[in-house]
Amino acid sequence: MSVEEANAQQAVDDAINANRERRYRLDEMKKRRDEALAKEAASLKKKEEDAQMLQNSIDGHNEHKSEHDAKETHLRPSLESMRCRLRMAVEQDQSITSGIEAKESAIQRTRGKIHDAEVAKVSLDEKGKHKVQRVDAMRDACREAEANLEARRETLAQNVVRNRQLHNEYLSLKGNIRVFCRLRPQLPSEQNGDMLKVELHNDREMTVQSALHKSVTGVRDVSSSWEFGFDQIFTQDSTQASIFEEIALLVQSALDGYRVAIFAYGQTGSGKTYTMEGLQGEKQNSEDAGIIPRTVDLIFSEMKEMKERGWTFQVHVTMLEVYNETVNDLLASKSGAGTPREREEPKTPRAASQSREEAKTPRAASSTNEAFSEQYRHVRVENAAAVHHFLNRAARERHVAATACNDRSSRSHAVFQLALSGRCDSGAGGVQEVEGVLSLVDLAGSERVEKSQATGERLKEAQYINRSLSALGDVVEALAKRGPNGSKHVPYRNSKLTMLLKESLGGDAKALMFVNISMCNEHLGETVSSLRFASKVHACNVGVAKRVAAAGSH
Ligand SMILES: Nc1ncnc2c1ncn2[C@@H]1O[C@H](COP(=O)(O)OP(=O)(O)O)[C@@H](O)[C@H]1O
Ligand SMILES: [Mg+2]
Repeated sequence: MSVEEANAQQAVDDAINANRERRYRLDEMKKRRDEALAKEAASLKKKEEDAQMLQNSIDGHNEHKSEHDAKETHLRPSLESMRCRLRMAVEQDQSITSGIEAKESAIQRTRGKIHDAEVAKVSLDEKGKHKVQRVDAMRDACREAEANLEARRETLAQNVVRNRQLHNEYLSLKGNIRVFCRLRPQLPSEQNGDMLKVELHNDREMTVQSALHKSVTGVRDVSSSWEFGFDQIFTQDSTQASIFEEIALLVQSALDGYRVAIFAYGQTGSGKTYTMEGLQGEKQNSEDAGIIPRTVDLIFSEMKEMKERGWTFQVHVTMLEVYNETVNDLLASKSGAGTPREREEPKTPRAASQSREEAKTPRAASSTNEAFSEQYRHVRVENAAAVHHFLNRAARERHVAATACNDRSSRSHAVFQLALSGRCDSGAGGVQEVEGVLSLVDLAGSERVEKSQATGERLKEAQYINRSLSALGDVVEALAKRGPNGSKHVPYRNSKLTMLLKESLGGDAKALMFVNISMCNEHLGETVSSLRFASKVHACNVGVAKRVAAAGSH
């Protein structure tokens, strides 16, 4: 074979081989495409199946849906009503919620307050604890002070008893009618007039001097002078308290069973009522209180002290007024008060020296055996306030009328009496009983009739007053002259005043007279006359006061 042939053969072979190869690749491609087609056919089939299933499910679903729609149509009305109820429930819920919120905020606030209160309580507890400690300490100190005080009180009580014994002994030695002189300061309304010329030598003696006047012959200027002496002279600046201090022991001796009488004597306007009562009405204050209110307070406070020593007292008050020789009982029934109410003197009045023990129940004594003064009302009183009440009532009912000397002159004698019955069961000497009487008398004005320029009814009043005051002077004088055995007659029955005061003026009583003096020269005549009367009383020394008491009489 030639090369061409070989070449041609080779080319044929190569072409055959290339064909073969191309065929092989085509086959391969066909095979792969067939496989892909088969796959696709399978996938398509699957899709068809799925579509079928989907269709089935859609059909089922549609069926279900129409069932559902029917149900829904059926349920809608009830759904609507439920919705409505729900709305209401929601609304209710909201209101309940807002209520709850409000309550919660209130609770919150309350909690806040509780907290504050707790904080405050804690601080208070702290303070309380301190206070309790302080109180305990104070209580201890108090106990100690009380023990001291008790010891002192005991010593004081012993001293008081001793003092009173000494005072009673002192008065017995001095005589039992004493006279104090009180000079009243000039009142603003008197500032233009001349002052009375008084020279005080000491607290017991003084000289009163008149202004200069022509002698009888008319040649020389002369003045008259009078010497007076009393147990004590109180000057214009003496206070009510300082005066009461001087008489407090005398007043207290009524609690020891003595009869005590205190008088205020002097012309109208000289200060008798001021001395005995003090100022009244709106002007009243404790500094101006006079002897009567101070006595009442002292007696009741003293009775309280004595109670601790075993003494019990019954106190009876009598308030009388002697007006134109008529005795008015100021404690009689209200309707009768102020109307003169007189009683006859009993036939056999009890003697002044007779012991009160003999009349076991003095307030209920039989008419034949009772003293003149005991016919009048004795009102039992339990405390000082009750007496002050009666005093105020009585003051309103007293007769007052105008005269030229004083536009508020008292034209009657005012007699205030406290009867004190005491009993002590616990004393060392067995049962002790005492019966004391205190008479405090604001006498009517002592001025002489001519001076008061009185006429008619006033003249009659003035005459009655002067008569009863001179009867008082006569009684005192007779008592002075009576001598130790009491033989001389004492003219108690010459006036209602002396009859009432018979027991308080007798030999076993202690009496004190204040002679009140106005410091105006204009009243010189009346002043000298008052001082003379008082000097006469001062000159009397009536027996020795006796205590109306009996030890172990029950
Ligand atoms: N010591 C005194 N201090 C101040 N004023 C007095 C004093 N004494 C009396 N007076 C006043 O003088 C006036 C007359 O006194 P009063 O007690 O009414 O006199 P009497 O009762 O003697 O008529 C009253 O206004 C009274 O207040
Ligand atoms: Mg008077």
